Amino acid sequence: MTAFHESNRRFPAPADHRSAEDWNSLLEHQADVTLADELTLFQSTPEWLAARSVIDAGCGNGYFLSKIAAYFPEKDYLGIDISPELIDLARRNHPRRTLIAGDYFTAAPGRAEIVLMRFLVQHLSDFGAVLRRSADLLLPGGALVIVESDLARSQILPQPRTFLAMLVEHQRVSALSGSVRTRLLAAADDLVRSTCEPWRLVATRETTTAKAGPFAGSKLLAVFRFWVDLAERSGTFAFDFDAVRRDLAQWGEQEAACVSLATRMFVLSPERG
Ligand SMILES: C[S@@+](CC[C@H](N)C(=O)[O-])C[C@H]1O[C@@H](n2cnc3c(N)ncnc32)[C@H](O)[C@@H]1O
Repeated sequence: MTAFHESNRRFPAPADHRSAEDWNSLLEHQADVTLADELTLFQSTPEWLAARSVIDAGCGNGYFLSKIAAYFPEKDYLGIDISPELIDLARRNHPRRTLIAGDYFTAAPGRAEIVLMRFLVQHLSDFGAVLRRSADLLLPGGALVIVESDLARSQILPQPRTFLAMLVEHQRVSALSGSVRTRLLAAADDLVRSTCEPWRLVATRETTTAKAGPFAGSKLLAVFRFWVDLAERSGTFAFDFDAVRRDLAQWGEQEAACVSLATRMFVLSPERG
């Protein structure tokens, strides 16, 4: 069974790409950009509101986990991440939180009423394995909550064409190497059915975050630049990455620049026999 898709093999080791501190700021900025709107998704999810315990699978540096725990303090949270460097950061940033360095598919974090996967599925290729593992870890009545950004439904204007072309190419290569994100976003019901696991898709929700530029010096532009660096360092496709950086720098200066970023949440539940 392979849980990662090819381009993900190096992903969890920040030392391969940049320092752990760089990862720390990427994950913080990335969460901050859409956090307020994502919270409305959680606020309108009955399974989430009712749950008393949460496993955050692929919690990274624990930043998003700490934010969501601050908004919903009545729950018990446990974070697990395969990257020891990111778990070290998470422990430093949030010393009182329960955090495990390990693979979600093999570690033993205990059971919970919710398994949360924010931006993890994009790194995985075997959705059947995700459902089987989550069925083992969920308490009766529990749900798997997947959150992913949906770039196909997002807008970046005026279009930074080279950057957008790079994102399209990245998604094409990721889909070819098995990432399930594209299939999940395009047809979640079909994806669940095709796994032949006894699960159902309970709900799909979407929110968008709109922001107006100029973006020079902003967290959003820092996140976009980091994506370019990651794409280049992944070595999975050839591109003129310096042209993308120039394109983004020009876009960031434009008074009329604006973005609308779509985020989707999928709520799934196992059907117990
Ligand atoms: C894009 S980051 C998202 C981090 C965090 N959830 C957030 O929203 O900021 C994806 C995380 O998943 C972790 N990861 C990838 N595969 C994993 C696995 N099999 N088990 C646990 N964590 C995994 C990576 O190390 C990385 O920290």
